[in-house]
Amino acid sequence: MAGRLVIVSNRVDPPAARGNPAGGLAVGIRAAFGKAGGLWFGWSGEVTDGEVGPTRLQRSGPLTYALTDLTAAEHDGYYAGFANRALWPAFHSRLDLASFERSQFDAWRQVNRRFATELMANLGADDRVWVHDYHLIPLGRELRRLGFTGRLGFFLHIPFPPRRLFQALPWHRSIAEDMCGYDVVGFQSHADLDEFESYVERELDGLVDDEGMLRVGDRRLRADAIPIGIDVDEVIRLANSQDSRRQAQALASTLHGRALILGVDRLDYSKGIPDRLRAFDSMLRDHADWRGKTTLIQICAPSREDVQEYQDLRRVVERRAGHINGRHGDAEWTPVRYVNRSYNRRTLAGFFRLARVGLVTPLRDGLNLVAEEFVAAQVPEDPGVLVLSRFAGAAEILQGAVIVNPYDIDMTGAALNQALAMPIEERRDRHARMLAATRANDVHRWRDRFLEALDG
Ligand code: G6P
Repeated sequence: MAGRLVIVSNRVDPPAARGNPAGGLAVGIRAAFGKAGGLWFGWSGEVTDGEVGPTRLQRSGPLTYALTDLTAAEHDGYYAGFANRALWPAFHSRLDLASFERSQFDAWRQVNRRFATELMANLGADDRVWVHDYHLIPLGRELRRLGFTGRLGFFLHIPFPPRRLFQALPWHRSIAEDMCGYDVVGFQSHADLDEFESYVERELDGLVDDEGMLRVGDRRLRADAIPIGIDVDEVIRLANSQDSRRQAQALASTLHGRALILGVDRLDYSKGIPDRLRAFDSMLRDHADWRGKTTLIQICAPSREDVQEYQDLRRVVERRAGHINGRHGDAEWTPVRYVNRSYNRRTLAGFFRLARVGLVTPLRDGLNLVAEEFVAAQVPEDPGVLVLSRFAGAAEILQGAVIVNPYDIDMTGAALNQALAMPIEERRDRHARMLAATRANDVHRWRDRFLEALDG
């Protein structure tokens, strides 16, 4: 009988923070605990002036939260530094935005060591530990060093970069060896799994054996594509709720019958927001019939605002939205409504339902749960169309989407026109296929598949 499930992630979503919009990762992890509960360890979201106090335990039903603060130096080096200025850009193939600083790498390792020490004090021998995302890659090996002998899994929520690009990270070898220190390593897509295996085979002399296990030195681990998903029925419930219908109606009344194109993202350069605005611009230019008949609402939730690259992006997006409105708009029609704030998931579900087109065009994305939430929120008899980047992990699942290359502005513009003009039968058919695929790969299946691999 397997022990308690222990999940470790940088971002934790304790009940006290409820009402704050939780990212996809936190929503997925909450669902993964299910009714059985367990222990959820991670950063409290607080930065302290002085020393970090002891880990705080909070019980909530079957789930116990173990929360630790970060010092200001840890926050700058580990979170805003190495995680979000080195790993995030490099793993999203943006070396032009990456900076590699030894001191930040050291801070990242150091925080992982401290987290491991604090977690270890709360672990039982037969607990299963499931670590999440790029902030915490070294945590597994640190736990092993401290003597933990139970099962250890790691799931990467973001893409794994191509081998030649990963090699640009000065510490790529040690990072890959950290990943190989787990019993199971999960990726969002087969494309990511292939990149990882190719790196391990060529750089670490690893090989995939007859049973599909990865052998590296004296290690034997399972690496697999196990995409995260959503709780489909929960999103349907949210979209059907009175509250969300009311808010969607209020929004509809401001559209005056215009077709809504909707984008919802964290304000992040991986999401391709400036390119997407250019695609909308190109659509209005090439298909002038849509002028005055469609509105793009781009919702950007502020994110990592203390990182320079995110501040720069905000200015670019604001400028570009302004240009489009200046060029195409008139006194009665604003083509782009750019909104720099976050909305809760219930409100968004209603907005998704109202939209004729969901525009999800990241330049690179681990999975992208917005795409799946958009699908689940639709009315099956009269669904909107998803325009989806081929570089989101979700494109392996949502084959009923209109798939685009987000770097190809004219193609994405043409896809927008195709989506707006799509006949009802085709919309229904595509939606039915996408909904079935979203259900077949939902968050429960993600948890079950990962834990089966871990227990195996
Ligand atoms: C992505 C990452 C998560 C992260 C989330 C929000 O989804 O994969 O690990 O929690 O973004 O970013 P933040 O930096 O606010 O935690």
